[in-house]
Amino acid sequence: MIDIYTFIEAVWLMWPAYGANGLCMFARGKIPIDGGQTWRGKRILGPGKTWEGLLLGVIVGTLIATFQMLAYPFLPWSASPVALDIVPMNPLIGALMGFGAILGDMGGSAIKRRLNIERGKPAPLLDQLDFIIGMFIFASLVVTIKWEWAVILLVMTPVIHLAANGVAYLLKLKNVPY
Ligand code: CTP
Ligand code: MG
Repeated sequence: MIDIYTFIEAVWLMWPAYGANGLCMFARGKIPIDGGQTWRGKRILGPGKTWEGLLLGVIVGTLIATFQMLAYPFLPWSASPVALDIVPMNPLIGALMGFGAILGDMGGSAIKRRLNIERGKPAPLLDQLDFIIGMFIFASLVVTIKWEWAVILLVMTPVIHLAANGVAYLLKLKNVPY
């Protein structure tokens, strides 16, 4: 059931992937994972998917999950009237989630290149959801994923994305509100 409890559980789960996906742009990567290779005249992944970005994503996922693991005992879980199903975080699952997020993001780029969408050009929903899907696939290798968590994060992520970009547009940090 989708309620405040499954919502809290889903929000707990999202941070390693959000961090990995959101911060990998700061890798300023140079070494393309596809090695510059093309398939049917288009790049396999494109110049925006780099080894440095992949590495930074895994590191960020690991660090965030480690932080969550350390913070867990200090959080007010007992305030909840029902026992929450909180996925136990540790460095390994963080690395897995970060890796899954970046791999999902690469899958999204591979699809964009096949559809002839250039690097950096928008592909609505695909751009926002590819990393979440990747995270769920990899996390499901080691923990049981509730369908509610998937629904919540798949709906919530594009909404947050739109809201954040809208604010950035109003603050004149972006030229388009999406
Ligand atoms: N990035 C990276 N390595 C990755 C993923 C992302 O170096 N594995 C960096 C790149 O500098 C990229 C930026 O993060 O440009 C933003 O990522 P994203 O929006 O996913 O890439 P785009 O440049 O928009 O390319 P695409 O069209 O393939 O999504
Ligand atoms: Mg992009």
